[in-house]
Amino acid sequence: MKIAPSFLSCDFSRLGEELTRMDKAKADWIHLDVMDGHFVPNITFGAPVIKWARPYTKLPFDVHLMISEPHKYISDFADAGADIITFHVESDSNIEQTIDLITSFGLKAGLVIKPNTPASAVFPYVKKLYMVLIMTVEPGFGGQSFMADMLPKAREIKQYAASFGHDILIEADGGINEQTIAQCAAAGIDICVSGTGVFKAEDAAKAIASLKEKSRI
Ligand code: DX5
Ligand code: ZN
Repeated sequence: MKIAPSFLSCDFSRLGEELTRMDKAKADWIHLDVMDGHFVPNITFGAPVIKWARPYTKLPFDVHLMISEPHKYISDFADAGADIITFHVESDSNIEQTIDLITSFGLKAGLVIKPNTPASAVFPYVKKLYMVLIMTVEPGFGGQSFMADMLPKAREIKQYAASFGHDILIEADGGINEQTIAQCAAAGIDICVSGTGVFKAEDAAKAIASLKEKSRI
C-alpha cells in the first residue's frame, strides 16, 4: 500500500518544512487538493503554490483537481511540477480531450468519482488511464468520516480494466486512518490518501508506518 499524505492538512506557513517532514516520514506520494469554490464549496490553492512547493521534495506530486473546468489549467499544473493529474468525471471538461492533454505533457492521467457516481462512469476512459481515484467522502474538506460502501467500486474498475488486459491503479481518498485502512487494503486499493491522519499526527513517520502495517493483510 502506498500512502499519499494530503497537503491540504499541512501548516501552510511552513510549507517547505512540511514537505521535507513527509519525505523523511517515508510518504510515497504527496497528494495536492486543488479546489475552486465552484466545483466544491471550498477554495484551497492553485498551480503557483504547487510550483513553490516543488523544490522541497522529489516525491511524486499527485494533483487532485476539484475544479469545474480542468482542461483550462492542465498546462499550468504541468508547468508547476505535477506528476499525476486526476480530475473529476463530473467536471464540465471534455473527458477524453482532458486526459489526452495531461498525457501530452508526459504526465499520468487519472479520473476521480464522487460518492454518488457509479464505477461504470469511468469505463469508457479506462484504457487511457493510469489511475482512478475513488472518493470515500464528499469532496471539499478534510477530516470527514469514511464511507466504506464506496470500496466495491475498486474491484469493479479493476475487473473491467483486466477484461482487456489493462492494469490500473486505484486510489481512495477521504477519512482514511488506522481504523479504516485495512478495509481499503481488503478492497484492493493501491494508494491511500490521508490528510489529518498523517499531517496532524504527532509523529508522521510513526503514523505512516502504522498505516502501512495495518494495511498488510
Ligand atoms: C477531500 C480531499 C481529501 C482530503 C483528505 O476533498 O480530496 O484529499 O484532504 O483528508 P482526510 O484524510 O482528513 O479525510
Ligand atoms: Zn484529494
